[in-house]
Amino acid sequence: MSVRRLAEDTVQPATFAFNKENAAWAKATINKYPKGREQSAVIPLLMRAQEQDGWVTKAAIESVADMLGMPYIRVLEVATFYTQFQLKPVGSRAHVQVCGTTPCMLRGAEDLIKVCKKKIAAEPFTLNEGGTLSWEEVECQGACVNAPMVMIFKDTFEDLTAERLEEIIDQFEAGKGAEVKPGPQIDRIYSAPIGGLTTLQVPQPEEKKSAVRASKSAGGDKAVSVPPSNAAKPKTASDVTNPTLKTPATAKEASARNAKIEGETADKSKPAKKPRVKR
Ligand code: FES
Repeated sequence: MSVRRLAEDTVQPATFAFNKENAAWAKATINKYPKGREQSAVIPLLMRAQEQDGWVTKAAIESVADMLGMPYIRVLEVATFYTQFQLKPVGSRAHVQVCGTTPCMLRGAEDLIKVCKKKIAAEPFTLNEGGTLSWEEVECQGACVNAPMVMIFKDTFEDLTAERLEEIIDQFEAGKGAEVKPGPQIDRIYSAPIGGLTTLQVPQPEEKKSAVRASKSAGGDKAVSVPPSNAAKPKTASDVTNPTLKTPATAKEASARNAKIEGETADKSKPAKKPRVKR
């Protein structure tokens, strides 16, 4: 992991203040914690400061520390420990976080990083000319099943190719990031198999209902006969699972059999246990 330091003083704003809406939110968040434990709100407050200004400034760290009654160094420790906090200005329209962990790397993350180097800046955490875009390589974002992927602000863009990432970056650069559909960028639903279902292909309840409706509308009075499922029914000849045996009858026989076995196996050298008397 690289060393994480605050940005140079030349880019640090002199002051920080939550806007009206965020100030009310911060107050309510602090009030969630018991008296004396307000410091627990440090991460949500720092994150809200980042969402407001785009990155965590030195002034924001000091302001949050004052609000929570914490020494500045303690809040600085939190801000520099978690890589989710951006300590330098990032692109105003998109900060592209490319996952470079093994599954994404095996599925083409290196090509995505090449795209970022070409379209944004040669080095991570560097703004493009217009200050609108930046990028970095991050660890697993939890969408490995649809690797490779990138995260931009709070959305993930998955099943990417280099060409698709170029298009996405262009749209964010044009201020149309909100129009890009997050999630898989190919024809699949969430993490369902590519090309449709490969398992669970029996008719689903909704399909059965539509079949019944179709039959009625075709003039048929009889409901469609759907055979019962045999799934999960054990294939065994044991009495316990034999559907032809009725429980009361077999229970009686089984109980007599068990009583006989118990009598035969009981240790005759020991006195029989006296039944417990209820008081
Ligand atoms: S490895 Fe990339 S999202 Fe998990």
